[in-house]
Amino acid sequence: MGFINKWQFVYLALVISLGTWAKYNVEATSRSLQDASTLKIRHEEWMSRHGIVYKDADEKAKRFEIFKENVARIEAFNRAAIKPYKLGINKFADLTNEEFITKRNKFKAHVCDSGRAISTSFKYENVTSVPSALDWRKKGAVTPVKDQGQCGCCWAFSTVAAMEGITKLSTGKLLSLSEQELVDCDVKGEDQGCNGGLMDEAFKFIQHNGGLTTEANYPYEGVDGTCNAKKEATHAAKITGYEDVPANSEKDLLKAVTHQPVSVAIDASGFEFQFYSGGVFTGACGTNLDHGVTAVGYGATKDGTKYWLVKNSWGKQWGEKGYIRMQRDVDAKEGLCGIAMMASYPTA
Ligand SMILES: *[C@@H]1O[C@H](CO)[C@@H](O)[C@H](O)[C@H]1NC(C)=O
Repeated sequence: MGFINKWQFVYLALVISLGTWAKYNVEATSRSLQDASTLKIRHEEWMSRHGIVYKDADEKAKRFEIFKENVARIEAFNRAAIKPYKLGINKFADLTNEEFITKRNKFKAHVCDSGRAISTSFKYENVTSVPSALDWRKKGAVTPVKDQGQCGCCWAFSTVAAMEGITKLSTGKLLSLSEQELVDCDVKGEDQGCNGGLMDEAFKFIQHNGGLTTEANYPYEGVDGTCNAKKEATHAAKITGYEDVPANSEKDLLKAVTHQPVSVAIDASGFEFQFYSGGVFTGACGTNLDHGVTAVGYGATKDGTKYWLVKNSWGKQWGEKGYIRMQRDVDAKEGLCGIAMMASYPTA
């Protein structure tokens, strides 16, 4: 009897669980069908929000699959809530991380490694008084966030933002300066327009050229062009040169940022960086420097997490209105994402 009962029990259990499984399965199928159509609608909405049009249905289907994967990964990250920052479905949501990196991040770190052997003097070396927080935007030394588009000239935007800062501090005037002049005219040596460049080389170019013109006079096009010599000869701002912040010292970087916006190189290649939408970014990231940005301040959150305030050039819709707060004073001497490895600033 015990034997029969056992089998009756097993049978019953089987029937019940099969029923539950079937019911669950029907629900799951309808839910995933619903998800798929919701996602299609979300993709459409996202396309119109960002003005994206695909060349044909195949391209759209391919982009939708990438969009779907990115959305799933972004939402899983935010649900997990284990990091002090969030990700968002931004305008890069139909690009794989690989595509994203090749299009935008063209800082030439491999060239810097040798170029940096001759280090410059560091005029802030003896700085001792450092405020606990600083935001150069509040002091009127930062222009609105710009957008480099699909041109790998982050190096030009980083250079120009640092130069806009020192120009405001030395002349009292905040001028929006020209990245396109650097893209078109600074083409000797390592600086190659949309194919990448170095901030230090750009500072050298500006110094030898005798200055840089305004954004209004030489507006951004986002493609390589022929240098307009007449515009190149119209100087709106000048620098006397540049200096490197001693490598791998967030302390020295702080001394410099206390005095002016500073060009920094970072590793911006990660999925989390691509979709960062707010909070203090803590990685993951490496130290393969591939992007040029500008440190325009620093501070700490209420819970004591210290951060660098960094201006990016991916438009206002990325991150915190175009900015990212990156964790400061980390254990690694290179700083988070290598931010302390190759910092430099123009001198006036
Ligand atoms: C920093 O202090 C040292 C020692 O007093 C001095 O030799 C050096 O010139 C100072 N550096 C600057 C940039 O003022």
